[in-house]
Amino acid sequence: MPNIRSAYTDSVNFFGEESPLELAQRFGTPLYVYNERILRSRCRELVGLSSHPGFHVNYSAKANTNPALLSIIREEGCVVDAMSPGEIFLNMRAGYTADEILYVCNNVDAPELKNAVDRGLLVSVDSLSQLDLYGRVNPGGKVVVRFNPGIGAGHSAKVVTGGKETKFGVDPSRLDDVFSILAAHRLQLVGINQHIGSLFMDGASYVSAMNVLLDLAVCLMKRGAKISLIDFGGGFGIPYHKYEGEKRLDLQEFGALLNSRISEWSREHGYDGRFYIEPGRYAVAECGLVLGRVNAVKTNGTNIYAGTDIGFNVLARPMLYDAFHDMEIYRKDGCPDTNLIEQTVVGDICESGDILAKKRLLPRMQEGDILGVLDAGAYGYVMASTYNSRLRPAEVLIGEDGKARLIRRRETLEDLASTLCVLN
Ligand code: LLP
Repeated sequence: MPNIRSAYTDSVNFFGEESPLELAQRFGTPLYVYNERILRSRCRELVGLSSHPGFHVNYSAKANTNPALLSIIREEGCVVDAMSPGEIFLNMRAGYTADEILYVCNNVDAPELKNAVDRGLLVSVDSLSQLDLYGRVNPGGKVVVRFNPGIGAGHSAKVVTGGKETKFGVDPSRLDDVFSILAAHRLQLVGINQHIGSLFMDGASYVSAMNVLLDLAVCLMKRGAKISLIDFGGGFGIPYHKYEGEKRLDLQEFGALLNSRISEWSREHGYDGRFYIEPGRYAVAECGLVLGRVNAVKTNGTNIYAGTDIGFNVLARPMLYDAFHDMEIYRKDGCPDTNLIEQTVVGDICESGDILAKKRLLPRMQEGDILGVLDAGAYGYVMASTYNSRLRPAEVLIGEDGKARLIRRRETLEDLASTLCVLN
């Protein structure tokens, strides 16, 4: 049933047999809601990018680590990365085995490296100093080195990871140092990886960076390295501006380019190893949204504020990166309202920066409305916090049968106190 503003979720049948109002009633708000069908179709698009036998999608778990989603992603044929002991733990809980997990960490200590090695994971290190530490932890072992291709891309300076101005990767001009550390610890360099940044909408910089990594692989192989894994990283963008009809990243064009480049390159260099891409956002962003409630509406000066229970403890992206998330509005017996007025949508955290959308053109909101913040499946729940001692929300999954099931309960006050120690 169309509601005040629901054209997008209606068009993709996001809520299946459920209604956002009933979900808010049954599970409470704020609430993360995911759609299994959309998740599966995004994974299939990624897996279908190349038919090259060595091609794999290495889902970047940092975008969303709920094991219910991870196990669907695994069923769809994606392997996975991890960047902390917690991500290894959750990946394994979802059924991933050690040979399906690549550990892509940075600036970690010896026990953390040892934890990954003891669990049988292949590890990527991202500096000479971490390579040396890894060599001491796992002498004679296999290792992947993350290089910085000198090219960056991303939606905010905070998420550009390639280029000389970032903390990531080894500078390719330091190959002599890499080889001497490898030799000192009898390490075998079996793979190379990179990640230029998060959210590109045209593949040009990604393809340039791919070429840099492939040239580097040739260099390393000439020097005797038996490379069997080349990981180009993630960063595939999604259209956040749904209601403005923003175009999707052209995966057809990108896939054709990727497929022909890796196939030709493999033939030319007699390479029969693996190629990874490492998307996080593309797989999970659009299958998720947050439902919240409009608790108060007021005018301060010239601003109309809609005050909701979606503070930046629930969804940090707008506050952190000025990120744009489209919004929908659902109301009991609501009908589409195309009369838009400027409103500033805010949360319930005690900071004036707690803004979800500034002066956004939306149908006029009322107290009691349910708000849907779209494209929140990636870097949503995983970045939620208990700031202001608020409880982290619940998560539900709309299955392929159209029914909602709880995949994470809402936190309780006891959870807030569960790590406290009593002083005697
Ligand atoms: N691989 C590595 C080594 C990464 O650091 C990342 C993301 C990815 C893959 C996946 O990138 P994606 O395909 O999701 O763009 N919190 C920010 C995004 C931070 C991304 C960090 N690294 C946001 O909400 O936009």
